[in-house]
Amino acid sequence: MTEPLPTTDLKQLSEDALSALQVLDTSDPGAVEKWRVEFLGRNGRLTTVLRGLGALPAEQRREAGAAANSLKEQLEQRLEEKRTQTLAAQAARAESLDISLPGRRMRRGRLHPSTQIIREICSAFNEMGFQTVEGPEVEWERYNFDLLNIPRDHPARDKWDTIWIEQPESRRPPDGQRILLRTHTSPMQGRVMERQQPPVRVIVPGKCYRFEATDATHEWQFHQVEGLVVDEGVTFADLKGTLYEFARRIFGANRRVRFRCDFFPFVEPGVDMSIDCFGCDGKGCRICKNSGWIEIMGAGMVHPKVLAAVGYDTARYTGFAFGMGPERIAMLRYGIEDIRHFFSNDLRFLSQF
Ligand code: DAH
Repeated sequence: MTEPLPTTDLKQLSEDALSALQVLDTSDPGAVEKWRVEFLGRNGRLTTVLRGLGALPAEQRREAGAAANSLKEQLEQRLEEKRTQTLAAQAARAESLDISLPGRRMRRGRLHPSTQIIREICSAFNEMGFQTVEGPEVEWERYNFDLLNIPRDHPARDKWDTIWIEQPESRRPPDGQRILLRTHTSPMQGRVMERQQPPVRVIVPGKCYRFEATDATHEWQFHQVEGLVVDEGVTFADLKGTLYEFARRIFGANRRVRFRCDFFPFVEPGVDMSIDCFGCDGKGCRICKNSGWIEIMGAGMVHPKVLAAVGYDTARYTGFAFGMGPERIAMLRYGIEDIRHFFSNDLRFLSQF
């Protein structure tokens, strides 16, 4: 029987140990320990070789023993070297981190200016007892027009340039109702009244769309905030008092308001409301185009036909409604000159708010 020569074993062992050391992550104590156990440990490969020496003739034993011991020393030394190298590399990396450099600024997100003004408007009304409700942007013409006293084929519909949604013939309901992108938030009047009896006191923020060429004051998409109050004994004085209080909250405590006749099919009488210019206190400036007044919304007493259409008792109940464009209000307040900024997603504009 021929024993393998211990020196051959040692050579192989040395190669194995060194190549394992080369890829060893010496900053990981677990990995280092594993390496040590495998090659230098009490049951490791080197010890196994040393134990086998007893069987050798004395001369060879001494030689092989010396070789094994020197290999042990060599491996331990190489491990130490490798450790030092790793530490040095780490230190070098740490030095390249200049902690005196100013940090990179984190960009903070914020709410869209439309959202900010909408929330402000709604909370002004919430504090006066209005409940916020929302409705669909894709709407039946019944709610957008019919229930609001704007009959089909009536010229009043021209006021709202409508984006219609095509429906295949087979999907059209039997009553011929068509669908559209709502042109205002007023359709929520019918939706709210249909499902509850008075008292009604709601505020309705939402997105609207119109088939419209865009310019500095017209967008094909924009927001509106609608309000509706219906109860026994609601009068025009309630409308004035509520909207006056709103204007003071949003535009400042000294505001005066002015109501002028206007026409909307769903109110009678209908008005538009202006505030005296907060830029010049009514003296005349760029914001108010020298008139001293700024128009901020449409409003009126809910038309009895609108109340009747949802089955309300018009002998018992009256109400008022109003609608405004929050983008327009934000433009006035912040001196924004072009409504198209709101939906162009330009951070130079958005990050000002
Ligand atoms: N819906 C109207 C529009 O889009 C705005 C409006 C006017 C709403 C008078 C109202 C109102 O509720 O009473 O032009």
